[in-house]
Amino acid sequence: MNDARLPQTRPIRFILNGEERTVADVRPTTTLLDYLRGAARLTGTKEGCAEGDCGACTVLIAEPGGADGLMRRSVNACIQFLPAMNGRAIETVEHIGRDGPTPLQRAMVDKHASQCGFCTPGFVMQLHAGWLTGALGDRQSVKDLIAGNLCRCTGYGPIVEAGMELAGEPVPDTSGADAALAERLMGLEGEGVFAYEAKGERWFAPTSVDELADTYAAHPDAVLVAGATDVGLWVTKQDRDLPLLIDVSHVRDLQVIEEAAGRVYFGAAITHRQAQRVLAEIHPDLAEMLRRFAGAQIRNAGTIGGNIANGSPIGDLPPCFIALGSRLFLRQGDDLRVVPLEDFFVDYGWQDRRPGEFVAAVEVPRLGENQKFFAHKISKRFDSDISAVMAAFRLTFEGSRVTDARLAFGGMAGTPKRAAAAEAALIGRPFDDAAAAAAMDALVMDFTPLSDMRASSAYRLKTAQNLLKRFQLELDGKVCGRIAAAASIGEVA
Ligand SMILES: Cc1cc2nc3c(=O)[nH]c(=O)nc-3n(C[C@H](O)[C@H](O)[C@H](O)COP(=O)(O)OP(=O)(O)OC[C@H]3O[C@@H](n4cnc5c(N)ncnc54)[C@H](O)[C@@H]3O)c2cc1C
Ligand code: FES
Ligand code: FES
Repeated sequence: MNDARLPQTRPIRFILNGEERTVADVRPTTTLLDYLRGAARLTGTKEGCAEGDCGACTVLIAEPGGADGLMRRSVNACIQFLPAMNGRAIETVEHIGRDGPTPLQRAMVDKHASQCGFCTPGFVMQLHAGWLTGALGDRQSVKDLIAGNLCRCTGYGPIVEAGMELAGEPVPDTSGADAALAERLMGLEGEGVFAYEAKGERWFAPTSVDELADTYAAHPDAVLVAGATDVGLWVTKQDRDLPLLIDVSHVRDLQVIEEAAGRVYFGAAITHRQAQRVLAEIHPDLAEMLRRFAGAQIRNAGTIGGNIANGSPIGDLPPCFIALGSRLFLRQGDDLRVVPLEDFFVDYGWQDRRPGEFVAAVEVPRLGENQKFFAHKISKRFDSDISAVMAAFRLTFEGSRVTDARLAFGGMAGTPKRAAAAEAALIGRPFDDAAAAAAMDALVMDFTPLSDMRASSAYRLKTAQNLLKRFQLELDGKVCGRIAAAASIGEVA
């Protein structure tokens, strides 16, 4: 597609607290938070960290889609770009209780759950989102829901109590209004590629994969953005100029999960939250890993494609998918290329991606009956923290003998990487104490990890070895519950 065929620039159109807004004069890299607090004068939404960590900026967004016709999710406004809101609806804390006190507000008051007023709007919005989406259940579900909200004075107890009280309240039936809202939003989004330009920056948002392929082929120098949970920080923390962005989060063909012949295909724009149920079916360890992957607001925005494409050595999904034997589908113009996922990660900061080529999907095989899987995330903090080491293993057995081994690690090298020497040490023998010891020794040949603020080199190596041992003990039925053991994993062997 040449520039002459590119779509005309249109203003950003969205619904804010029930009212339609049209914006045509702000930079595309303006964050939703800056717009809310600045132009919209809605200062109830706070800025704590500007990097998706504290939850003070939590808002609720809604867009057409899903089984009910309208999908709602909470996100961190501080790292969402305003043009991504085209065709979406935003609700801020000012909108809660507009028709009188709600059960949420009553619960916050009854349980004395509001203290400083800085973190409270974020907690309120997160509980509101959990209530409307049916995510509030038992005490653990409330804790999981607010794991991405920080209260610096540790007033979590009353907030959890308020969440528990709210969980007992009937969820309001919004189905009629939701259908009308979805239709209105589709009208606002418009047809074809959404193009927006202001102050020397451009934004394209294709809605089909063919439009994305054409737009990116015409502008291979553009930066792709999906959930913006990495790219958002390039602006808010690194002050980078991003003159041309292509938003893949509106591409419907990338928002599908399909299954054929025991293989699950996740479209690149599937969010972590959308993938959660299917990943849990593949193996419960994947559900547990995702529960500890950032906080709910990040999982609601961050995508599978973004987690793979950014090539981080400490991304949590790549080791899991590599261990499962996944393949990556890459598209450039009309060409589709399929590569084993481990081959995509060439070196630190270098992925096997050609100009104008994007991640379209990842194919994840389900486990066979003769296969065993293990995944475990090690981080300093249990909730909402980046991994120091991420380990994922899949062994294939014939009888008691290991016939195939895929041991993948994050945090151990400049890329997510398989442990070839340790794998070789396991093949052709039972996975017993001796085999585990041999593989643990061999890991020294596979990795010379870095020391950094998350862990020392020695800790990483020891932990990786211990996780292998743990897998063997788990298969032997000799190990206690996973969560209880997480804190002491460094000392297992
Ligand atoms: C507070 C916080 C906590 C986090 N915790 C974790 C964690 O626990 N574990 C973890 O693994 N990560 C974590 N992350 C990192 C981030 O959330 C994930 O990497 C996420 O999956 C990125 O997805 P995204 O859609 O937001 O990507 P974006 O930020 O939109 O994009 C990331 C990169 O991928 C590229 N890209 C996006 N989509 C495509 C595509 N389809 N094709 C080609 N390139 C593409 C972009 O150009 C960019 O280079 C955290 C981030 C934050 C802010
Ligand atoms: S300001 Fe902290 S998450 Fe947005
Ligand atoms: S009550 Fe706001 S930081 Fe604790």
